[in-house]
Amino acid sequence: MECSGRLLFYCSLILSLAALALADDPYFECGFVEDRGNYTANSSYQANLNRIVSQLSSLTEFNYGFFNLSAGESPDEVKAIALCTGDRTQDECNSCLHRTATELIQRCPWHKEATAWSEFCLVRYANRDIFGQLESEPRTCAFNTRKASNPVQFNDGLSELLNNLSNIAAAGGPLRKYAAGNATAGNLQTIYAAVQCTPDMDKQNCTHCLDDGKAEFLNCCYGRIGCRVLRPTCILRFESNPFYHTAVPLPSLPPSPTPPGPTTSPTSIGGGNQQNGRRGLIARCRFLYDSKLCLNVKLLRRFTYLCSKTVDICAVFFFCHLGLVTLLFSYMHISAAVFGSFC
Ligand SMILES: *[C@@H]1O[C@H](CO)[C@@H](O)[C@H](O)[C@H]1NC(C)=O
Ligand SMILES: *[C@@H]1O[C@H](CO)[C@@H](O)[C@H](O)[C@H]1NC(C)=O
Ligand SMILES: *[C@@H]1O[C@H](CO)[C@@H](O)[C@H](O)[C@H]1NC(C)=O
Ligand SMILES: *[C@@H]1O[C@H](CO)[C@@H](O)[C@H](O)[C@H]1NC(C)=O
Ligand SMILES: *[C@@H]1O[C@H](CO)[C@@H](O)[C@H](O)[C@H]1NC(C)=O
Ligand SMILES: *[C@@H]1O[C@H](CO)[C@@H](O)[C@H](O)[C@H]1NC(C)=O
Repeated sequence: MECSGRLLFYCSLILSLAALALADDPYFECGFVEDRGNYTANSSYQANLNRIVSQLSSLTEFNYGFFNLSAGESPDEVKAIALCTGDRTQDECNSCLHRTATELIQRCPWHKEATAWSEFCLVRYANRDIFGQLESEPRTCAFNTRKASNPVQFNDGLSELLNNLSNIAAAGGPLRKYAAGNATAGNLQTIYAAVQCTPDMDKQNCTHCLDDGKAEFLNCCYGRIGCRVLRPTCILRFESNPFYHTAVPLPSLPPSPTPPGPTTSPTSIGGGNQQNGRRGLIARCRFLYDSKLCLNVKLLRRFTYLCSKTVDICAVFFFCHLGLVTLLFSYMHISAAVFGSFC
């Protein structure tokens, strides 16, 4: 690697961008149910799973942010479902699915069945039919550690808002089941919330999923100023700042109803241990998930790690510089697009 003078500067700037792009998403969560089996290295299941990841990295159709994919043949067939939040454009959706699928197989590896959530999308895969099946595991909840100053009023406003949004989302058609909105909760404070089911859920299963999610709010989100409840077939989120965009429009003609998904016998799910493969710093980050601090702490950790592991002097300088520049950018919120124009 050439490593001198101006070349180093540009070289490290470009790599800093790459590091930013690859930096762990502080919103990322993944989970699996313990007893669903593992696949082994170099198995055809792994090859098929990799095919799913590459399908998710090269989507050409938008399909309003919902995808039902499969790869390979039984018994090694992998089936997958992918969903973007209803306010994401095709480009935003594609890049979210690519990142999330890639991170899923890295951070929850070797599971025949696993689910990942990031800020704008959800990716699931399994070795069985999952289309149309209501699922309650794996699930997780990520909350902001800050407390609402007026939790009672805040939660009253929030629960009314969530009820309204859930009704709208569940009544959505087979293309999208999403709703977002705001409400005022005491002290003129505004709460913003969004809920969404994977659109393969029928109205009843969507309502069921969102009702369970709302119940979980009482456990995990009570009195918080921001929280995400994440399930395989629906997601709920609220914040005290506007976090959603205008929904991407659906076609105006009502689409003809699609037949319900495969009618395999109901799967009884539950009791499985839930893990999300995160420890230490990462676990703490989930409580800070909406804070830039989290991202910066992770980058600092990455930077320190690289500097301590690298023996070559040139590489030490290179990576340390890379780490500092990356930190600086993340503090300055310089977007890759703006930065790209310098290179
Ligand atoms: C599956 O893999 C996980 C993580 O690598 C491991 O903890 C677990 O023991 C494995 N389960 C089986 C049944 O091999
Ligand atoms: C998988 O394949 C790679 C490359 O072909 C090889 O290096 C590795 O040892 C294989 N692993 C197993 C567990 O077979
Ligand atoms: C979803 O994918 C599965 C597996 O590929 C397929 O059997 C099923 O027909 C698909 N359903 C829809 C509605 O596309
Ligand atoms: C609702 O979910 C259950 C459980 O997965 C499934 O058996 C059922 O077919 C779903 N209902 C519809 C109408 O899709
Ligand atoms: C919920 O819906 C009802 C009936 O449409 C409406 O009166 C109320 O203002 C809504 N509340 C919120 C918080 O959106
Ligand atoms: C809250 O939602 C209403 C539509 O229901 C919208 O007109 C208003 O601008 C929103 N308020 C804020 C502060 O986003």
